[in-house]
Amino acid sequence: MLRPNDIVHYTAQGYSNSETVGSVGDYTLFVPQLIVGEQAQVRIDHVKRNVAYGTPVQLTKPSDKRVQPLCKHFGQCGGCTLAHMSYDEQLLFKRNKVAQNLAKLGGIDIDLPNCEPSPQQWGYRNKLSLPVRGTVGNVEVGMFRRNSHIVVPAHACLLCGDWAATLVALFTDYCNECGLAPYNEADFSGIVRHLVARYVDGQLLVTVVSNGPFNADLRPLADKLRQHFDKFGLFVNVNTLRNNVILGKTTRHICGLQYIEGKHLGVTFRLRPNSFFQVNDGVKDIIYRQVQQLADLSQTQLLVDCFSGIGVLTNVLADIRYDTFAIEIEPSAVQDANEMAQLNGTPRLTNICGDVTEHLPKLVAQHADKRMTVVLDPPRKGLNDTLCRTLKAAAPQTVVYISCDSATLARDLHALSDVYDVTFCRAYDMFPQTDQVETLVRLTRRA
Ligand SMILES: C[S@@+](CC[C@H](N)C(=O)[O-])C[C@H]1O[C@@H](n2cnc3c(N)ncnc32)[C@H](O)[C@@H]1O
Repeated sequence: MLRPNDIVHYTAQGYSNSETVGSVGDYTLFVPQLIVGEQAQVRIDHVKRNVAYGTPVQLTKPSDKRVQPLCKHFGQCGGCTLAHMSYDEQLLFKRNKVAQNLAKLGGIDIDLPNCEPSPQQWGYRNKLSLPVRGTVGNVEVGMFRRNSHIVVPAHACLLCGDWAATLVALFTDYCNECGLAPYNEADFSGIVRHLVARYVDGQLLVTVVSNGPFNADLRPLADKLRQHFDKFGLFVNVNTLRNNVILGKTTRHICGLQYIEGKHLGVTFRLRPNSFFQVNDGVKDIIYRQVQQLADLSQTQLLVDCFSGIGVLTNVLADIRYDTFAIEIEPSAVQDANEMAQLNGTPRLTNICGDVTEHLPKLVAQHADKRMTVVLDPPRKGLNDTLCRTLKAAAPQTVVYISCDSATLARDLHALSDVYDVTFCRAYDMFPQTDQVETLVRLTRRA
């Protein structure tokens, strides 16, 4: 019988999400930070019936696919769960993860091509969102330790690159010099909850998330930012909710840029701090170009981009030959989308602010006689039953689905499988070094 703190000899036989899985006696054992085929001495952390979870204490047979993780926080921080694998092995891991989810949860047996690599394996993230903890004068800004709410200080998170290291260091100094109290989850005290930032095309937007009105002087922070960044904007967001949601409802502009302005794939865009934007610019562009090819817009009379964000993809796809509707629930993103339509003179585009579940059925009813193409890019939770029913009833010829969670994707594809065939599926490495993967699917209505 296994007990916590037992040391066992373990062989990693397969992957299950970010961990390896194997068996020891009658137990199924899950162990992170290993590669399939590796053997290790493992300490048992937790046992539940015939399932156990462990941590490797000594590697006895390493894989030739193992690399030395670049980050010194590997294994402590919950971020880069795959940084011990060669990049080729990471890509294989992600392809297999998508294939397994599609098969097990979606009943879809498909031969996937290799996972499309990211142009940058490190320093690719244009966004950071870090909890602020510690004590007055000794503030810590970093990632949560794996399976905990203890902060691992991340002065140099290698996923973001130099801009993030500079920002975290100067923000930590600012908090300490001003004696600001970091947030304490135990009693909900303290003022500074999170540091959120976005860095695109040399422009930085910094949002200080505050547990109530932020009364401290922000000028010293603005001065520090000015010394290191040519173009920045500073914001305060108030979040008093006692949960894990990072941003509250109100965001106040303090100084500098109001938004980032850039041009990607020929589209000029404006990005405000509360709007969603894909975190890896290089992979975003690869996926958007692929969507353009897959959407088969030559015959389309109506394009609906659901979960459209600020609308860079919408603008890439919109055309004078057909009407385009974009549906997005976040008001700041729709403001960005409306400005983008004006800046680009986008033809025949209507941005709708609201819930896709409510607005897609209305559009479908209003345009029942038109040949329609639908693009879907939902958050991790995927689609709901109503949306799946709407899609099946409207049965557009082509649906393109971008997903950041292959488990919910598989569930949704299963729900649509009596009407649609999967005619393209590929994994994209939007998040190198982590176990997260983006998947792009084209569904074609069965004849
Ligand atoms: C994964 S992002 C995709 C955004 C965009 N397609 C892109 O590539 O940047 C999902 C978007 O859906 C929006 N969203 C979430 N739930 C929604 C809903 N029920 N109706 C409409 N939009 C929603 C979010 O605000 C977010 O902008």
